[in-house]
Amino acid sequence: MNTLDREESEKFELRKQDHIKLSLDPRTEAREFNDLDQIDLIHDALPEINFDQVNPTVKTLGTELSVPMFVSSMTAGHSGSININEVLATVCSRRNWLMGVGSQRRELHDISAQSEWKRIRKIAPKVKLVGNIGISQLVISNMTDIQRLVDGLEATAVFVHTNPLQECFQPEGTPRFADGIRALEKLCREVRVPVILKEVGCGFSVSTLKKIKNIGLTAVDVAGRGGTHWGRIEGYRSQSNSLLYQAAQTFKDWGISTVESLRNGKAVNPDYELWASGGVRSGLDAAKLVAIGANLVGMARPILESAVEGEISLDKKMQRFEYEFKVAMMCTGAKTLADLQTGERWKLKKINSTFEDFI
Ligand SMILES: Cc1cc2nc3c(=O)[nH]c(=O)nc-3n(C[C@H](O)[C@H](O)[C@H](O)COP(=O)(O)O)c2cc1C
Repeated sequence: MNTLDREESEKFELRKQDHIKLSLDPRTEAREFNDLDQIDLIHDALPEINFDQVNPTVKTLGTELSVPMFVSSMTAGHSGSININEVLATVCSRRNWLMGVGSQRRELHDISAQSEWKRIRKIAPKVKLVGNIGISQLVISNMTDIQRLVDGLEATAVFVHTNPLQECFQPEGTPRFADGIRALEKLCREVRVPVILKEVGCGFSVSTLKKIKNIGLTAVDVAGRGGTHWGRIEGYRSQSNSLLYQAAQTFKDWGISTVESLRNGKAVNPDYELWASGGVRSGLDAAKLVAIGANLVGMARPILESAVEGEISLDKKMQRFEYEFKVAMMCTGAKTLADLQTGERWKLKKINSTFEDFI
């Protein structure tokens, strides 16, 4: 490795460590904009089902998962990622959850970084993994290189993340989004796994969601505001008297909430599945999002909090989320996810409106 490569590699390590540390810092969570609390699932005092009949399994990406919840993309390619990914993969495999890995950007120019996946596959050969690459890398990549990332991971699908706010405030950022839709369309055509577009916590508007209809996406994870906020995280990585820190403060509330983004998704009548994440902190939160139309629901920060404590802690948390999800189904009288998405299962707290008003 030459000096320049070594410096780049050291910077990359520091950036990834900062991200993990700051994503566990309460200042970087946009909790005040989380509107999941505005939704109530409606209690059914006579559900006419037994708890063991509640069936939260879901079919997607050509596979069946035990619950419609997944681990959102977090980490990959640095010294701290291996332990975290081993814990995530072990528990996701045991509990049959889908697991997103963090950005595989490093693998684009450093093939040795793929060794992480060989280790993961040894301990969790069957775990369903979803690859990850940023749109600002995608626009300058060959599709064969993205296929190589997918193959190295033995991925079930690939996430493409779009994160304009984050790239603007990241000191090493690459805010390069021109031609992004064309690159996405090409990827959907050429890569041999389903492609899912995701934000990282700023959500999607109606007009953005319209622009990506009919380009071949299998799903969009709206990843809205209400949880981890990447403008805040990147801002706090700079000195408090710097331009980036101060401008990031101005944008600390930027984004479209998860509930609103999902609602925007329903409004465009998409040809892709709608997944939701951003600020999901319990199985009850996940059940609310499924009730209002999400096919799958993702979580990052609460999963990371437990994963850094180890396998037992993560297993307990995921078991709790599954239990909460099933209780929400039971107490709304929903035997299946299709039941949860039909009938009068939820209302908005303040405005007492129903699903029909919402869409
Ligand atoms: C430590 C950490 C690293 C992340 N890295 C990535 C990444 O590499 N690629 C990506 O698409 N999203 C990444 N995310 C964003 C999450 O996938 C998710 O969209 C966002 O954190 C909002 O979810 P949350 O509120 O449950 O944390 C990361 C999140 C965390 C907490």
